[in-house]
Amino acid sequence: MKRILALALAVLMVLSLAGCKKTPTVEQIQKDGKLVMLTNAAFPPFEYVENNEFVGVDVDIANEIAKDLGVELEVVNMDFDGIIDAVKSGKGSFGAAGITIKPDRQEKVDFSIEYVTSSQYLIIQKDSGITADQIPDLTIGVQAGTTGEFFCVDDNGMAEDQVKKYKTALEAANDLKNGRIDGVIIDQLPAESIVAQNDDLELIAEPLTEEKYAIAVQKGNDTLLEAINATLQRLMDEGKIDEYVLNHMGAAA
Ligand code: ARG
Repeated sequence: MKRILALALAVLMVLSLAGCKKTPTVEQIQKDGKLVMLTNAAFPPFEYVENNEFVGVDVDIANEIAKDLGVELEVVNMDFDGIIDAVKSGKGSFGAAGITIKPDRQEKVDFSIEYVTSSQYLIIQKDSGITADQIPDLTIGVQAGTTGEFFCVDDNGMAEDQVKKYKTALEAANDLKNGRIDGVIIDQLPAESIVAQNDDLELIAEPLTEEKYAIAVQKGNDTLLEAINATLQRLMDEGKIDEYVLNHMGAAA
C-alpha cells in the first residue's frame, strides 16, 4: 500500500513538473521582457565571440526579432548537440545556430521559414592532394551532432573511429593542422572562415550536401513561430541577411 502511494506521489510530481514547464509564447516573452536565443557561438559568420560579445548573422537576426517584439535579447552559449533538446524542453525561447532542417529534428521542434542555403565542405591540409571522393577512406573531424557528422556516418557509412567528434569545428581544424586527422567537414561559410585564417589549410570547392537553415522553436509555439517568420521574411525582403553575411565574413576573415 505504501509503495503504491509513493509511486502515485512520484507520478503526480512528474506530471505537475511537466505541467509547470512554461512555453515561451510571445505573451510570455513580452511579460518577461526578454527573448532568449540558444546557440553555439563557434560558428563564424553565423555566431562567434568578439570582444567578449556574441555576434554574427544569427545574432543580428535575433536582435531584429527582439526589436520587433519590443524586448531585450539574451544569448545563451551551449554545445551544438544540446540545442534541439534544450529548445524542446523549453530552455530559452528558440534555437538559432545555423541549424539545418532535418526530419529527425522536425520530430522534436518546429522550424521557421528557411533563411540560408548551405552545404558541407571538406577542409584539408594545403597540398595534401586529398580529393572529396577519398572521404570514405579518411579520418575526418566534425563538430559533434552536426550534419557534417551525419554526412560521414549515415551517408557514407564511415566507421565510428574514422569520424572524430569535436565540440567545435575550430578544435577539429587544429587537429587537422597537427596531422591527427585528414580533413574537417563543416558548413560552407564556417569552412571558408577557417581557411581564411589558416594559410596551411585549403577548401575543396565541392559542395557535399544541400541544406537549409531555419530557427527552431518548441513544438506548437505558433505565436513565436509566426513572429520569427514575419521578421525573417522582412529581413530577406530587405536584403538584410546577405548584408549581415557580408559584414561578418569580413570580420571573421
Ligand atoms: N548546419 C549544421 C547542422 O545543423 C551545423 C550547425 C552548427 N552550428 C553552430 N552554431 N555550431 O548540423
